[in-house]
Amino acid sequence: MGSQVSWWIFSVISLVLFLNVELSIVEGGTNEETKVYIVYMGERKHDDPELVTASHLDMLESLLGSKKAASEAMTHTYRHGFSGFAAHLTDSQVKKISEHPDVVSVTPNGHYEPQTTRMFDYLGLSQSIPKGLFHDAKMGEDVIIGVFDSGVWPESPMFSDKGLGPIPSRWKGHCEDGQEFEAKKHCNKKLIGARTYKPQVKISDSEYMSPRSKDGHGIHVASIAVGNFVPNVSDSGFGVGTVRGAAPKARLAIYKVCWIKEDGSCAFTDILKAMDDAIADGVDVMTLSIGRPIPVFNEVDEGNIIGYGAFHAISKGITVVACAGNTGPEGYSVLNIAPWIITVGATTIDRWYPTPLTLGNNETLMGRIPSRDKEVQAGLMYAMFARDITKESAMGKVVLAFIVKNGDAKNDYLTSATHAQARGVIFASRRNDVITFSEALIILEIDYEQGTTMLKYIQSTSSPTIKVGRSVRVTGPVIATKVAEFSGRGPNSVSPSVLKPDVVAPGVAILAASNPNIMGHEDGYFTETGTSMATPAVAGVVALLKAVHPDWSPAAIRSALITTASTTDPYGEPIFADGLSQRQANPFDYGGGLVSPNKAADPGLVYDADAEDYRRFLCASDYNEGIIAKLSQTTYKCPTTKPSVFELNLPSITIPFLKEDVTLTRTVTNVGPVDSLYKLVVEPPLGIKISVTPNTLQFNSSVKKLSYKVTVSTTHKANSIYYFGRLTWTDGSHNVTIPLSIRTEILKNFNF
Ligand SMILES: *[C@@H]1O[C@H](CO)[C@@H](O)[C@H](O)[C@H]1NC(C)=O
Ligand SMILES: *[C@@H]1O[C@H](CO)[C@@H](O)[C@H](O)[C@H]1NC(C)=O
Ligand SMILES: *[C@@H]1O[C@H](CO)[C@@H](O)[C@H](O)[C@H]1NC(C)=O
Ligand SMILES: *[C@@H]1O[C@H](CO)[C@@H](O)[C@H](O)[C@H]1NC(C)=O
Repeated sequence: MGSQVSWWIFSVISLVLFLNVELSIVEGGTNEETKVYIVYMGERKHDDPELVTASHLDMLESLLGSKKAASEAMTHTYRHGFSGFAAHLTDSQVKKISEHPDVVSVTPNGHYEPQTTRMFDYLGLSQSIPKGLFHDAKMGEDVIIGVFDSGVWPESPMFSDKGLGPIPSRWKGHCEDGQEFEAKKHCNKKLIGARTYKPQVKISDSEYMSPRSKDGHGIHVASIAVGNFVPNVSDSGFGVGTVRGAAPKARLAIYKVCWIKEDGSCAFTDILKAMDDAIADGVDVMTLSIGRPIPVFNEVDEGNIIGYGAFHAISKGITVVACAGNTGPEGYSVLNIAPWIITVGATTIDRWYPTPLTLGNNETLMGRIPSRDKEVQAGLMYAMFARDITKESAMGKVVLAFIVKNGDAKNDYLTSATHAQARGVIFASRRNDVITFSEALIILEIDYEQGTTMLKYIQSTSSPTIKVGRSVRVTGPVIATKVAEFSGRGPNSVSPSVLKPDVVAPGVAILAASNPNIMGHEDGYFTETGTSMATPAVAGVVALLKAVHPDWSPAAIRSALITTASTTDPYGEPIFADGLSQRQANPFDYGGGLVSPNKAADPGLVYDADAEDYRRFLCASDYNEGIIAKLSQTTYKCPTTKPSVFELNLPSITIPFLKEDVTLTRTVTNVGPVDSLYKLVVEPPLGIKISVTPNTLQFNSSVKKLSYKVTVSTTHKANSIYYFGRLTWTDGSHNVTIPLSIRTEILKNFNF
């Protein structure tokens, strides 16, 4: 095996360093009876921004009675990107203005709540909802999650065992002593296992030779999965709230396989050994926010260690959750593609912090991302090339730069701007959710249209200026959910008939525990972004599902997550895909969709599969019998008639090369009400005919499992792109939906 797995933290995009994003909020006013509210009026384009401000003021004036009161109450007006304003308002004024036909929402600017809490409320896993999976599962108390990462910070209150009962008696793992880590002192009823797997190569002197994590990644990931409730946590001093993990009572077993060292972080052999130990220790769920970066194309054999370890795990009934990687947005970038793994991509949630940018002509544009700085007034300049940013031209100024493709060019601008002691850089770029942090510079992003407006202003005056305002918080239905630009995308490069990723979960700007010795993390918490963050959230959801359905197989759990996942946000709006172009997301961006934990607890039907089904799939994929035998720790003979890759009982149908009709079988198992009648609803992909027999499924006390046949044919006369559709079985109260992804290929491998 030999080579090392490069460790995929949150940031593979070259310059993304999502460090501490301090989010400032418009402060309350002098009048104690008013609070600052953001009055949001939708995504509108205005020809004349002055008229817009005037119309906002008019609106306030009619509410408050005078022009003077209106201009005093208004703190910000937003005229680009979206329309609206922030103002000091009383409760009754809020009520009145909410009824205005142009107003979409009025959001109080109260306390900023840490993201983990918001993230799980958004997914419907809330303490304040009296019923549902979170409570039925007793918050995961009887479930053990194994985290394979860079270790733990045992002193974090998120790993406290407050409120937890005894350790499940089946647990056979243990905690190791080591540098600044004492099993007796640091392990408890929450942190029940902590083991290390030291690579043969030289490790950085600064690393702890123990389960303790130096770099913080493992701490963050573990606390998102199982973190206990910690009230009154402040994110860099801006407001307070409760942080917690997805399954706050689940038990944690740490397997430290990633170390700070020169080449890569987590070695193949260590990961495999750790997964093997974890099986014997008795973990119920494994979560891996690690993966092998590009090229993924040779994951077929020795590269696919996580896949191998996971095969052994799922054969023993242990669910394995792994990240889709931060290699997006291009196609074929998804990592951890084995069909028995739950592969997780990342989305944004319904909250964002745009930053008002006021030009010297008083025009305000909304920057797409939060600024760490309070309020900055500076000169403004345009740089066509990074080399145009010199000390003479740029010192103390904010620089506007247009970026065609995210990546290296940005680094060039940032390097030049840092050397020139510029105050900041505003990138006009395609939308990307990427927040870049630098101690030296303010770094912001705007849309190209806003960049053009800003450039016109710069060209219109001899001494252009800009005021970078304080970021405002916008929460709720008006903030669209997007699959993050960096999230690894399908198709699956190794097994194109297996849809990947499986699901998506929030992974942008997530607050969780860290190593307090890291600069900027002194309070023990930190905000990070990546599929690394979405993955443990899903692992926590799996723990809750396992608590409620201990008899479900890993395939059944995966099926429940996929068939109930939502292709809209919690408010019913479509999910978008950030990336090369702005569009609605499809199954290669989000698999089944956004996880819906409460629905997944009651999916109606599941598409089950066991290790033998996967072995047959490997035979169908021309895997060497020797490898399959190794996976099974037994001898193995493939069936004499080669099976079809399409026959694996996945909760999805993906056909990469459709020419002649393809007929395949799927089998569903009833896990809902015993006597149920399911009817078929097909939304076929464009130009694709889907015939299904039978088109009703009747379950009763003796019929638990039923199969159906699907025939897929194309009406396209030329090679096509992938088109997407859905196939749903519904009994009226359960919708069991699987994604269809079909590409026609008349001339095979013909590059048209
Ligand atoms: C919350 O934290 C702040 C600052 O650390 C402290 O002053 C305050 O007393 C705490 N409140 C509660 C309810 O613990
Ligand atoms: C911008 O607004 C300020 C304060 O309202 C005002 O003093 C200034 O004259 C305005 N500048 C322009 C160019 O309109
Ligand atoms: C269940 O349905 C099958 C097929 O429709 C039928 O043959 C069988 O008698 C039913 N069993 C019961 C217990 O109703
Ligand atoms: C099932 O899907 C239909 C059609 O989209 C929808 O009207 C219905 O509300 C859904 N039912 C459930 C229980 O989600």
